[in-house]
This record gives sequence, structure tokens and C-alpha cells, in this order.
Amino acid sequence: MKIQVRANSHSYDVVIGKGILRQSFESISSLMEKADQLIVLTDQNIWNAQGDYFSSQMPMPYDVFIMPNGEAGKTFANFEAVHTFLLEKNCTRKSFIIAFGGGAVGDLAGFVAATFMRGIPFIQVPTTILAHDSAVGGKTAINHPLGKNLIGAFYQPQIVIYDTNMLSTLPEVEIRSGMAEVVKHAMLSDEKWLHELLQLSYDKMTDEQLSTYLAKGIQVKASIVEQDETEQSVRMFLNLGHTYGHALEAAAGYGKLTHGECVMIGIIYMLLLCEEEETISPEFTNEFIQFLYRNSYPLDALDDYSFEQLKQYMIKDKKADYGELQFVLLQKMGVPFIKKVDLEMCERIDQLLRQRLTEVLR
Ligand SMILES: NC(=O)c1ccc[n+]([C@@H]2O[C@H](COP(=O)([O-])OP(=O)(O)OC[C@H]3O[C@@H](n4cnc5c(N)ncnc54)[C@H](O)[C@@H]3O)[C@@H](O)[C@H]2O)c1
Ligand SMILES: [Zn+2]
Repeated sequence: MKIQVRANSHSYDVVIGKGILRQSFESISSLMEKADQLIVLTDQNIWNAQGDYFSSQMPMPYDVFIMPNGEAGKTFANFEAVHTFLLEKNCTRKSFIIAFGGGAVGDLAGFVAATFMRGIPFIQVPTTILAHDSAVGGKTAINHPLGKNLIGAFYQPQIVIYDTNMLSTLPEVEIRSGMAEVVKHAMLSDEKWLHELLQLSYDKMTDEQLSTYLAKGIQVKASIVEQDETEQSVRMFLNLGHTYGHALEAAAGYGKLTHGECVMIGIIYMLLLCEEEETISPEFTNEFIQFLYRNSYPLDALDDYSFEQLKQYMIKDKKADYGELQFVLLQKMGVPFIKKVDLEMCERIDQLLRQRLTEVLR
């Protein structure tokens, strides 16, 4: 399966399929021949789990830099370490970077590619479900001690090669995390697809189902990003569930709960705001909570944090105007809109969320 993404700088393909790594690299051999060096950036877990497969499929020579796992790789120190590695390997403006990993590797590798010698080409080889989101759209970033993803650039890859064989070793918690963005993409686009997803138990999901969902998710993301590459307008819709979700993720301390687990709880919060607008029924919200419960999302995570704690992060995240926060809500499935909500209402919905979880899960 192939999806074309049109960005301002250039268009590129996202190819998805089982066992497609080698043939995809071969299909871009004319591009790859221009590279004087090929550097693969990955993390230790991924290299342990998929390094042998990757090596067996790579048709050309390369060097590997293995960074700390996950979020720990998105630091200034590691950013510098990768640049040092590239310089020591005598990389030039003609060198290529391959981001072989999840969102963390992709974000770091993309930002290194954007900055090394003022920009060298890079290729995304995603290894997580979440990366169907992060590998498309050109956002790259590292973290600052004062906040996540604060330092970065918009920088597009040459191609995204999504070999779904890589997903076979993904831990359960990362499946839950990545599926949150899939559900988000369904909510933003297609009611029928969403209802299909809500029937799922992840442990029974087939490879074919997963590939189809990833392709659909990428299509939704690509079409939104094409309309608004630098987040001036419709790209904001991709923040569905993220205002409250990010606050929970930050309050927990990054790494305790996964991004997607927090986003799913943020989506329940969003649905409760929609109930206030009378655009979504309580029955739907309850069905959604049941779906999360069935798939072992940590719905009791909220017990450890007060609204006061979450509020601080929500205000910081969204630079609240005059005590109001912007939320992405749904007119109906597939039709998002932006709504300003004051902090009093935010607190009321937070209470409702805690109550509703207890009621539904009793
Ligand atoms: N740029 C964007 O548009 C964008 C969008 C969403 C999220 N992000 C970023 O993405 C990151 C989250 O991405 P993620 O969820 O993919 O997390 P991740 O990259 O941290 O990977 C999750 C964990 O799974 C391991 N792993 C990855 N692939 C594996 C595999 N195939 N087998 C076994 N283990 C594997 C990793 O080592 C890591 O420990 C965050 O830093 C977030 O800020 C960026
Ligand atoms: Zn997200």
C-alpha cells in the first residue's frame, strides 16, 4: 500500500506492508546511490528486537548509532552525541539518516537531519503503531528540561517505509498507546470505522486489520497536514483528546503512563465536554469507556492526581487566554470544531469524568 504526502518542500511516499523493507529500499536505489554515508539511528530495545531482521533486509552498507530507549534519547546531550558521531564518521551534506524506531527515534533523528550541515535527507522506518502518527507530518523535536518537544523543526522525510513485521515484538503497553492515535484518526474522519475499532480486543486483532487501520490513520493525518503543514488552522484538530491527556502525561512524569494511554483518557474528557454541547450521547461515552476497560487501559490512573495538578499543566500547555482553554470537540464523528472552555467548566468536567468512570466500571 502506498500513500503520497504532499508537503511544501517535496512530496513523499509512505509505503506500508509486511516484509517490504528490502524491496522499498531497492525501489529508491537511485536516491540512495547519492548518499556518501548511511547512518541508522535506533534505540537499544528496537535494535535488540528487530536489528537482525533489519540487517538481513538492508541492501547497502551503513553505520549504526544506538541511543537510549524511548524518551531518554530526546535530550540535548544525545542530540549532541549523534552530531558528534556523524562528524566522526566524516558525514557530509550528502549523507543520509535512517530513523529506525518509534516516535522518539523519529523525532530525534528528524531533528538531527534538519540541523546537521543545515539539513540532510532522512528516511523513516517506523517500528511502533504510534509512529503511524509521528512519522508523517514533518514535526521533529527534542525535549528541554522545562518541557517536552519544545525544541525542533518542521522537516519532511524522503520516504516512510512501514514494514509491519517490525510490530511483532511491540510490548502490549505500546500497542495500547499507538492505538489511541488510530482511534483519534477514526474519530476525526469516519464514524463507521470508529465503530469497527470500538468492537476490538487488541489481542485478537489480525495483521491485516492492523495494516488497514495504519493506512487509514496515515491517510487522515496526511490529508490534514497537507491542508495546514505548520499548524495555523485545521492541523489543530489533531490535538483531539490531547489537552487533558498531555496534562495527565506530564503530571505523571513522562514515561510512567504512555502517551496514548493518557490521550485515551483525554478523549473521554473531550466526550464529556461534547455531552455538554449535546453533540455526543452519554451512551456513546459509556461504550467508549467499556472499550478502554476491555483493552486494559489504566483508567484508575487519574486517582493519583488532583484537578489542581492537571490544571497547571493544561494552562502551560495551551497558554490559556484570559482563563480559557481551547479544546477540539466533535460536532459528530468526523466533524471536529474548536471550543473555548473556561477553567471553572474544566474543573466541573474533571469531576464528571471521575464520577463517570466509577459509575461505568462499578
Ligand atoms: N512528531 C510527531 O508528530 C509526533 C507525534 C506523536 C508523538 N510524537 C513523539 O513520539 C514519541 C512516542 O513514540 P512511540 O510511542 O513510538 O514511543 P517510543 O519511540 O518511545 O517507543 C516506545 C518503546 O517501545 C520500544 N520499541 C519500539 N519499537 C519496538 C519494536 N518494534 N519492538 C520492541 N520494542 C520496540 C522502544 O524502545 C520504546 O521503549 C514521543 O516522544 C512523542 O513526543 C511525535
Ligand atoms: Zn498524540
